[in-house]
Amino acid sequence: MKVPNSLSLAFGEDFERALAETAHQEGLLPAPEEIRAKRFLARSVAPHVERLTELFNRVESERADSGLERYWKKGSNPENLRLAYFLSFMPGNLYRVASVWSELHRLGYRWPQSAEAAPTFRAVEFGAGPATASCGVLAGEKQSPLGLPTVGNFALIEQDRGTLKLGEKWLETYSRQLGFSNYSTRPFHRKLDLKQGWLPSSAPRFHLWLMSFVLNEFDDSSPDLAKTLLHAWDRHLEEEGLIILVEPALKLQSRRLLALRKSLLELDLAQNYQILLPCLGHQACGALAEEEDWCHEEVAWWRPPYLKLLDEMTGLDRKTLPFSYLVIAKSRRSREELLPALRGASHTHRLVSPAFKVGNDWEFYACGTADGKRRARMRQDHAELVRGSIIIDAGLRGDSHASRVDKFKSVL
Ligand SMILES: C[S@@+](CC[C@H](N)C(=O)[O-])C[C@H]1O[C@@H](n2cnc3c(N)ncnc32)[C@H](O)[C@@H]1O
Repeated sequence: MKVPNSLSLAFGEDFERALAETAHQEGLLPAPEEIRAKRFLARSVAPHVERLTELFNRVESERADSGLERYWKKGSNPENLRLAYFLSFMPGNLYRVASVWSELHRLGYRWPQSAEAAPTFRAVEFGAGPATASCGVLAGEKQSPLGLPTVGNFALIEQDRGTLKLGEKWLETYSRQLGFSNYSTRPFHRKLDLKQGWLPSSAPRFHLWLMSFVLNEFDDSSPDLAKTLLHAWDRHLEEEGLIILVEPALKLQSRRLLALRKSLLELDLAQNYQILLPCLGHQACGALAEEEDWCHEEVAWWRPPYLKLLDEMTGLDRKTLPFSYLVIAKSRRSREELLPALRGASHTHRLVSPAFKVGNDWEFYACGTADGKRRARMRQDHAELVRGSIIIDAGLRGDSHASRVDKFKSVL
């Protein structure tokens, strides 16, 4: 994904300081400076990072326990476990969400202007952990503004009380640091059970629906998830509202997101909603067609200094961050109206793999709005291609196993 430099550089010393102060105020870090203390990190954080990594990488069938037991209450020191998540996993997820926001910006999406004089923006984040996705939206808005109203509120729904409290504090600190001083938080300590739906019927309508690394916590089938989500969006998402779902890049979890997309389309999602990213349309999923395939993005960034240190200790390498995602708009407006950068395009092909140099060519896989997924080549001197690039109106020769892009209108 093409992320603006300003965003990839926005997680340096200031970000680190805000994190350290929040963790310290919440009693998780003995002193803000300890965030870079090797001894503290090695003893109190790194072992928990390793346990969490193992847990997140386990395939579904190996997950013996579920829900809260899965991590927050595990082990003898839940504070250090929470700190490990906050320092090691939250920033990467925050950056992933911010990158998705910047992709919307890149394609020209702008926040719909309300008729109200001073509209209040309302977002809801499910399984919010430490308010990760909400903070990601603000980081994205700071560097790649879509034009959010200046007054807003994030409702955070989370089953773990300690993490929710940490999220409330973090969102408050970070939004102030970014200059969003009129943004507030409403925490809801709640264990979601989809038999009861995502929100109580008395809940208000929101403009933004956020889920980061949380859908895979629910064992419900894709058709069931689709049914409950669509029901909730119909009732609790404002017209022209936006849905952002971010999930791991692992095959199983990524395929579950693709299956959810398919189930949503089978429920006639397209009548009132538009799938915007990454697919740019409602075509049958090219990756889901093959049993062993899946679809993910990747973003690069300059990690906060302490995270580099922590990565060295744990053997993790978070210089690049893979993820799967889906952005849906509740809108009957056309794709061109929602994503003006695609205006005039009769079809688009999104690169869903890196582009490799083969002789004088780029070779890549691309997913097209008209024809699904294909392996293709294109002359290298025609354009710079990366995963996530979009080729507008490609003139293609060959079949889905081996095509050549002879001509195209432009590359975004
Ligand atoms: C992998 S973490 C992701 C946290 C955060 N969204 C992020 O991206 O960093 C999953 C979160 O979902 C919460 N969660 C899982 N199942 C839940 C449920 N049934 N109700 C409420 N929260 C839940 C967990 O407690 C945890 O904080």
